[in-house]
Amino acid sequence: MNIEEQVKHMDVENKLLSEPNTLVLEVDLFLEAIYRQYGYDFRHYARASLLRRINNCLLREKKEHVSELIPCLIHDVYFFDRFLQDMSITVTSMFRDPHLFNLVNELVIPKLSTYPTINIWHAGCATGEEVYSTAILMHEAGLLERTRIYATDYNNQSLSIAKQGTYPLSKAQQFSKDYHLAGGKLSLSDYYHVSSDSIVFNDKLKEKITFAHHNLMKDTAFAEMHFILCRNVLIYFDQTLQNRVLNVLNDSLIHRGYLMLGDRESIDFTSVSEQFDKTHKKSRIFRKKLFADD
Ligand SMILES: C[S@@+](CC[C@H](N)C(=O)[O-])C[C@H]1O[C@@H](n2cnc3c(N)ncnc32)[C@H](O)[C@@H]1O
Repeated sequence: MNIEEQVKHMDVENKLLSEPNTLVLEVDLFLEAIYRQYGYDFRHYARASLLRRINNCLLREKKEHVSELIPCLIHDVYFFDRFLQDMSITVTSMFRDPHLFNLVNELVIPKLSTYPTINIWHAGCATGEEVYSTAILMHEAGLLERTRIYATDYNNQSLSIAKQGTYPLSKAQQFSKDYHLAGGKLSLSDYYHVSSDSIVFNDKLKEKITFAHHNLMKDTAFAEMHFILCRNVLIYFDQTLQNRVLNVLNDSLIHRGYLMLGDRESIDFTSVSEQFDKTHKKSRIFRKKLFADD
């Protein structure tokens, strides 16, 4: 079989159309096995994206049926790590959607500046570019000294890149462009040094950031956050998991704290929609009400 035939042969989405019941059973058993063996509950990830990830896994492992992945899960100690990488979409960038960082500057930072200490949580921080962006924003507002940033993800490989704060030099130009579009006041190069073909963010920023493993599927709230960014994470979850995560984020925020979601995410029609005000009609920034029925 050539590669094209193999891909067709293995394509999970095609199978879903031709043998829906068998495939649903196989996927359900596979997800149940993951849950029982590792405690990760992917049963509430959005199905279309989940199937694409499982398909990638089948191709890589050269397996035809989803059920063939179950023995791998049980007997190959490295398989689950590889599957987690398949599941984790780590696309990110510095000052991603720069206009939204302008809104953070305008709407959120002035309110944060009224607190003696400021806690910020990036939930689903991927490789950390977004976290360094916030640290720079806080520095330029004169607030970094009294800020502690927590940055979490369930992908340990991404977290270790995030901790290093080292990114390809080839990305520096785009990072710098978005930094200025986001309202950056200096030069982005003031915050990093170049080492061979990489840029390495300064220790002054890193000292203010705590990177940690946190799984939004099962872990609990972080206390007393003033501002939470959870961007481009909820889109991979079904409504049940979105509700769970939004409740964890809500419980983590102080009253009148801010929550920022991704461009295509919202709290509308979720179990926390009554607990937040929208700060700006075009943004995905929400402010927790003092009381839910305010
Ligand atoms: C597309 S990235 C978003 C990164 C960044 N927030 C941004 O908007 O640029 C999604 C991140 O969510 C993380 N993620 C997905 N499911 C998660 C979970 N259950 N717990 C914690 N992080 C999760 C992934 O590992 C990935 O790093």
